[in-house]
Amino acid sequence: MKRSYALETLSWEHHNGLVLSFRLERGLQLGVEINELKKYLLHVWQSALRFHFQVEENYLFIEACKEVLQDDFNRMCSEHQEFYSIIKSLKYCEDEKKIDQLINNFYQKIKNHIRFEEREFFPKVEKALSKIDARQLGQKLHDLHEPVDLSWPVEFWKQKDGKKP
Ligand SMILES: [Fe+2]
Ligand SMILES: [Fe+2]
Repeated sequence: MKRSYALETLSWEHHNGLVLSFRLERGLQLGVEINELKKYLLHVWQSALRFHFQVEENYLFIEACKEVLQDDFNRMCSEHQEFYSIIKSLKYCEDEKKIDQLINNFYQKIKNHIRFEEREFFPKVEKALSKIDARQLGQKLHDLHEPVDLSWPVEFWKQKDGKKP
């Protein structure tokens, strides 16, 4: 799907979100040490995802288009709340089974959340914005966007079944 200048940085970041989701799913399938997955998820959360959520919450509420966008905006924020609460539980959790469940939940939810924003919410935002507003929003979001380093010391998602990387 072609994204407009206004929202393209968020879509680039969504690509990174899908990479995260894929790696977690793969890591679980491969039976990678659960604390390694936890460390990886918390790292991506702190270095990128948390900020992405804040930007969406701060900039995608467009007063002039409130009526068309309000419901989807609220849905987006309440889904963000679910991620905040998963991360909060994950941070202090030492029970491996519980960590496994939280990571499972996270990778599935993030995939669905991104799908919702890309397929439903963002097209509405793009339709609702005037040319001038779209330009201004695009400039702001481009200023805020920073490329993310996707590397991780151990590429656990490439591990062959049953073998340690
Ligand atoms: Fe979001
Ligand atoms: Fe997003």
